[in-house]
Amino acid sequence: MSAEVAQSPYTLIDGKKISTDIKNEISEAVAIRKKENKKIPHLAIILVGDDGASQTYVDNKVKACKSVGFHYTMMRFADTISEEKLMKHIDHVNNDDDVDGFIVQLPLPEHISVERITDKIRSDKDVDGFTNHNFGSIISKKPLLMPATPFGVMELLRRYNIPTEGKHAVVVGASRIAGAPLSMMLTEQGHATVTICHKYTKDLASFTRSADILLTAVGKPGLITADMVKEGAVVIDIGTTRVEGPEYAKGWAIKGDVDFKNVSQKASFITPVPGGVGPMTIASLLLNTLRATEARNP
Ligand code: GUN
Repeated sequence: MSAEVAQSPYTLIDGKKISTDIKNEISEAVAIRKKENKKIPHLAIILVGDDGASQTYVDNKVKACKSVGFHYTMMRFADTISEEKLMKHIDHVNNDDDVDGFIVQLPLPEHISVERITDKIRSDKDVDGFTNHNFGSIISKKPLLMPATPFGVMELLRRYNIPTEGKHAVVVGASRIAGAPLSMMLTEQGHATVTICHKYTKDLASFTRSADILLTAVGKPGLITADMVKEGAVVIDIGTTRVEGPEYAKGWAIKGDVDFKNVSQKASFITPVPGGVGPMTIASLLLNTLRATEARNP
């Protein structure tokens, strides 16, 4: 009787470590700019309302700015602010020469249109990479500011030497922030064959099971179970859902879309949540801010 072949052990994709490497590279670039009397990158962050998760993300972004020596400005507004007033503040930041890049933290209150707000951001200061211009620039030969989360994912694949060319990448979730631009990057830059699944996809598992690289950005904890994953697949979990419960030390925890415990037993490479893609989004934001600064003040 032959013994069953043990699959895995998987390689954990350590986004925390890679993001620290990138932050060290950025700190060095800032130190060189300082020495050469060049402008220090300045990131402005606009936060509307007091959503707990957004507050945590923004705190982490401020911490990251401090750690690499960037200047930063935090702008907070009550969730009752009108869209018109917020637009005026965005105009002000657009025209403030000292600010190299800025972000408007999402989600916004329901009475404010994310699309109209995003359209208002100057594309050369759009360090989240959310504007139509930067979205479209994914398919240009010289992209400037890449959508931050997908850029972080591509960087993880690159730094772990995970080949994408000719592979079947299945992206679950077609959001403007993550799934849609990621699928374009995997095609254009990664030369992968890409399938995009979304909320209208029928029989999701029939697609995910054929993925060499499975990437999920939905926001539904436990969506991807082991039976949906091919043996040896690379699994990238972009989902971040704040789940509350007395079993968590802080009263809440961040959960991905993937059932990590069981899926990891089939994966060749897998990202944890937290500590996988999340820290990379912030590293990309810093990298975009440095690029925006270099473009404006070479
Ligand atoms: N909300 C959740 N993720 C993000 C992000 O990457 N950028 C912004 N601006 N808001 C977010």
